[in-house]
Amino acid sequence: MIETIPNLMPQIRDRFAHVDQCPFTGERIFFENAGGALTLKSVVDTSATYAAIPDNQGRDNPASRALVDVINRAKADARDLFGASGGQFFVGESGTELLFRLIRTAAMNAPSGGNIVGSTFEHPASRSAAIQWAEHSDRPYLSVDHQIGIGLVTPGDYAAVVDAKTRVATILHASPVTGMGADVAGIAAAIRAVSPECFIIVDGIQNAAHGTLDIDSYDVDGYVISPYKMFSRHGYGFAWVSDRLTALSHEQLLNGPKETWEFGTRDTGSYATMTDVINHLDWLGGHFSTSDTRRDRLVAAGQAILDHEKALTDAMIHGIGNLKGLASYADVEIIGGTDNPKRKGLVSFRIKGRISPDVVTALNDRGIRTHTRKADHYSGGILTPMGWDDAVRVSVCHYNTTDEIRAFLSAMQEIAQG
Ligand SMILES: Cc1ncc(COP(=O)(O)O)c(C=O)c1O
Repeated sequence: MIETIPNLMPQIRDRFAHVDQCPFTGERIFFENAGGALTLKSVVDTSATYAAIPDNQGRDNPASRALVDVINRAKADARDLFGASGGQFFVGESGTELLFRLIRTAAMNAPSGGNIVGSTFEHPASRSAAIQWAEHSDRPYLSVDHQIGIGLVTPGDYAAVVDAKTRVATILHASPVTGMGADVAGIAAAIRAVSPECFIIVDGIQNAAHGTLDIDSYDVDGYVISPYKMFSRHGYGFAWVSDRLTALSHEQLLNGPKETWEFGTRDTGSYATMTDVINHLDWLGGHFSTSDTRRDRLVAAGQAILDHEKALTDAMIHGIGNLKGLASYADVEIIGGTDNPKRKGLVSFRIKGRISPDVVTALNDRGIRTHTRKADHYSGGILTPMGWDDAVRVSVCHYNTTDEIRAFLSAMQEIAQG
């Protein structure tokens, strides 16, 4: 675990901006990572560097060539991070925009007829796109119900709904509301068992910062992340697409290269900051692996992150020392249960009889930033079937500490009594 290696946690924390201070409110503990993780200081510097460069790509001058080299390097780096030996990477406006674009491309090109399948587990980004493009491509949308008790959808749930005519399917890798991580490879296998040619698009936005990515093992056609939720910054989304998806007709400039997905001039800084993220994880993995292969070190970093976050969420739920965990309060309910092995760095709960925004405010007043999820168009898919109006979401990353969990549990002791 990260905190058992002497002096590692302070070094990790020193790599991030605003780790314990909010520029607007002063000292605070940051447990709102599912809304946007902390940003690496290297990302801040790199962004400033490239924002100042006036040159464009594709010109015959050294500056232009240097920018293209940076982009190509980031794409090569991303192969190791994503574990993707084929396909290609590109940036877009946001994770949502990229999901829409990939799902739209699959829906408009897949053979006519059949159906599109997605699940109630999904964030509205992929779900809205799949429902809208099922309608535009004249096919029914078939919805897989996730399992409310475990806050998760499983391969078996998909297997019960997909059929030989499922043309496009969407999968959410990890939920920013329940906190659970789905078995993407298992779900993709269940889909391909009955519809081998199905186009499968994955929303990896919440999952990306919490463990190892392994595209080669998923057997899918698209995987989208939002770098601001993975230690980079706002302003772009990052996608991997299979060659199969690229071979479909997709929006691009007339007479341009057929394999291109990018629209217009690229922000070199967005690519360069992906390299910063990969360098950070590579450095972290070097503390857990002696391998001289970067992919191995990235996998080791992912495992260390998962182990650390599990220790933090277990402490949050079951307590530390004489501090009571959330599970010990009779009136606290936790989404997905108290010992869910699929939990990835996130606990959503409510205190019966209290409205969650009040609990979030009380935590804020004690210097702990969390977030309310409401049964609105973002989280209603999860909360409404549970009969909940809202929940408090506490989300951690590998730079959060056991001491921060202690502070949270102390605050909860006061709040739960109040
Ligand atoms: C799982 C998931 N999908 C999609 C999104 C939307 O991402 P973006 O705002 O980058 O488009 C989020 C945002 O938190 C998310 O957690």
